[in-house]
Amino acid sequence: MKKYMFGVVGLLLLGFLSCKEEKPGVEEGPLAVMDTTYREPHRLQFHFTPPAKWMNDPNGMFYLDGEYHLSYQYYPDSTVWGPMHWGHAVSRDLVRWEHLPVALKPDSLGYIFSGGAVVDTANTSGFGSRLNPPVVAAFTHHNPETEKAGRDDFQSQSIAYSLDNGRYWTKYSGNPVLKNETGIRDFRDPKIIWHPETGKWVMALAVYDQVQFYASPDLKSWSYLSDFGIPGDTRLWECPDLFPLQDPDTGQTKWVLIVSIQQEGPNGGTATSYFVGDFDGVRFIANPAEQQWLDWGTDNYAFVTWDHAPTGPGERIGIGWMSNWQYAQQVPTETWRSAMTLPRVLTLQAEDGGYSLNSSPVAALEGLRGERTDLGKRTIAKEEEVTGAFLPSQCELLLHTDLENTTATLFGMTLSNGKGDRLILGFDRENQQVWVDRRQSGPKGFSEDFYKGPHTAPLEVEDLRDLRIYLDVASLEVFAGQGALNFTEIFFPEAPYDTLTFWADEGVWVIGSGTVFSLEGIWETP
Ligand code: FRU
Repeated sequence: MKKYMFGVVGLLLLGFLSCKEEKPGVEEGPLAVMDTTYREPHRLQFHFTPPAKWMNDPNGMFYLDGEYHLSYQYYPDSTVWGPMHWGHAVSRDLVRWEHLPVALKPDSLGYIFSGGAVVDTANTSGFGSRLNPPVVAAFTHHNPETEKAGRDDFQSQSIAYSLDNGRYWTKYSGNPVLKNETGIRDFRDPKIIWHPETGKWVMALAVYDQVQFYASPDLKSWSYLSDFGIPGDTRLWECPDLFPLQDPDTGQTKWVLIVSIQQEGPNGGTATSYFVGDFDGVRFIANPAEQQWLDWGTDNYAFVTWDHAPTGPGERIGIGWMSNWQYAQQVPTETWRSAMTLPRVLTLQAEDGGYSLNSSPVAALEGLRGERTDLGKRTIAKEEEVTGAFLPSQCELLLHTDLENTTATLFGMTLSNGKGDRLILGFDRENQQVWVDRRQSGPKGFSEDFYKGPHTAPLEVEDLRDLRIYLDVASLEVFAGQGALNFTEIFFPEAPYDTLTFWADEGVWVIGSGTVFSLEGIWETP
């Protein structure tokens, strides 16, 4: 577990030791809100970021009484990974966020690693009542001391509950609720769902290179159901998520299992993958047994979904951590580190006898649209700077390629600044590839891995008819073909990108229609 060794060892130890032993009862954390103008170099303007310090995975996501809750792996004392807490924020629309006090702090059982939360509507846990149902968070207790002592069981699963819409959390006195008796050291990231057909809670848990499923009537006692893995694949799996999703055409229910993979993502490092299949309350069977990438870019990890969110039957809303363990702790932001992706709606799409998962930005993002620049019908030959009432570093582009009249084999766009930095997004029609080249996107030196590339993904040429692209200071998110292709990448130019150039090689790129929106920031800035 290389990355858990990161940071100044003494500091980590000090951080852990200084955490008083938590008694069951109300836990109040320090306010997560620290001084920030949200205007620091590279600070994203319409993505969720912690006000200060280190953040990784999204955690404990649930919806209740008009609020979406987002917790996250948080270390309030440093901009690198350390003793994990759950930071916490709420939003009424998934777009504008209010920071709340830290939800969960480390205690005598260890750091608070990733996990999910559920609304226990029928009060199966007994923590609340039918009139005031509890929200129950499940997380991994990671004990650094027993880890250091060389034991295998330093990760176990625990729960905490809230009776006041997630404002205060009480850890269960009977923690841990699931000890590690597998002999496998990596045993973490519980994500729970209610399974009405069997009348039980089902937990998906990452256990090294597989997912194990457990069931419980009350969220406190858990029994093993089954496991799922790919024979021969020994990569480390993390942050699973299991949920049903309806085929939009037939109404048939399929099950999606999301797993994040620690190595060998499609463009290097960590990445989120998924399987579509069936789950009968005991066993998950992938159908077909093929692992697919949720996002082809380097920067969408630990993507998981909201419990209880008000969506259509064929939809599920989730969010990912917009970074990569290869360089997350080195990226050149000074007061805080990491952002979340834009929140996305997942839907199934039937394809070649199986299914794929499309992800599109949530509709509420349209509320951020400001000035509109109509590009009309444009024929791009060689190069053309695109200007209008928008900043290239903070905008949304909608582009419809006219495939019939486009003759260029390669076309796309480049973001640049006066410092010589540039980021290139290219569509290679001939080789059916989309690529992002960030090799010259900013000052090097903080990480070699970051500047490898270009990064590529297979492209269905038809998807070029529908391109939706978000640019936010230090991030690029491409959605093509109604969300069939996602490509998320971060970058760190020396100065904000202020020039947007469209280009086409060996022919013309015909944009049938195009629009650029300037986007408002989500934080109140002085
Ligand atoms: C994924 C992960 C999880 C773990 C958490 C620790 O990024 O490694 O498996 O719970 O981060 O911060």
